[in-house]
Amino acid sequence: MRRLTAETRLHPAELILPLFVREGASEPHPIASMPGVAQHSLDSLKRAAVEAAEAGVGGVMLFGVPQVRDAVGSAATDPDGILNVATRAVVDEVGDALVVQTDLCLDEFTDHGHCGVLDADGHVDNDATLLRYRDMAIAQAEAGSQLLGLSGMMDGQVAAVRDALDAAGRSDVVILAYAAKYASGFYGPFREAVDSQLSGDRRAYQQDPANRREGLREARLDLDEGADILMVKPALSYLDVLSDVAAISDVPVWAYQVSGEYAMVEAAAANGWIDRDRVIEETLIGARRAGADAVLTYWATEVAGWLR
Ligand code: PBG
Repeated sequence: MRRLTAETRLHPAELILPLFVREGASEPHPIASMPGVAQHSLDSLKRAAVEAAEAGVGGVMLFGVPQVRDAVGSAATDPDGILNVATRAVVDEVGDALVVQTDLCLDEFTDHGHCGVLDADGHVDNDATLLRYRDMAIAQAEAGSQLLGLSGMMDGQVAAVRDALDAAGRSDVVILAYAAKYASGFYGPFREAVDSQLSGDRRAYQQDPANRREGLREARLDLDEGADILMVKPALSYLDVLSDVAAISDVPVWAYQVSGEYAMVEAAAANGWIDRDRVIEETLIGARRAGADAVLTYWATEVAGWLR
């Protein structure tokens, strides 16, 4: 009876797996604060992407961990930079079995760890960053990325990247706008995952957890700028925002279950304090029920396996 009357279901195609790839790695490097998640070598990355595809996962979102960083994040736009190399490798491996997606942001590539370039006073320079994002979008599209995840929270980033892609004849590349991305403590383990160089925080460009209406405003701006998909991030603490955005959006709305959400569940489960699998499913159903059409989750392949 419950199965027959359930209002919400999970399906493998509505799960997206974030993956980290580390330049120069010959084997996967475990991420201590995310048990079960690793910085991949190119070989193990390809294997993980194939496993995800075989489990029916809808897509993979790639993050690069470069060996060398600089002030402008040069490796992000270099065709031989790790993320672009990895994208080509994964596309070659899995083809159209799932959607190969890339994180479009400078924080993994800058030596200061911010999502943009800095001005003379050390503040993030919004408009100078847009020029870097335009170039990064072209580099990623050329590497074969089918969907660009704009996670930097610069004002005008969706319009800038859409314009750059269209001008390059790449109107086929999809833009996922991290429309409402909150300045969150839940990104903690991600810092380890990408060896982030950041000291301080991103409060100058990510949103204040106190603000619900502002999340909706950010979503509307991104829709106006041409976003193909909207995202709310993190998931668990922002289900109200997710619900608001889903109510007004005429494009798909996704949620990102971030590193800290993963780490909390794994840590509590490792202590025997919660029923791991049940809680994982509940968090994902919660995001879907609140309005997410799909969810980025580090458990994507595992959960897709349960659902099959
Ligand atoms: C920025 C980016 C971050 C995450 C995804 N993209 C870090 C940040 O904004 O501080 C966090 C994802 C997670 O915590 O799982 N490139």
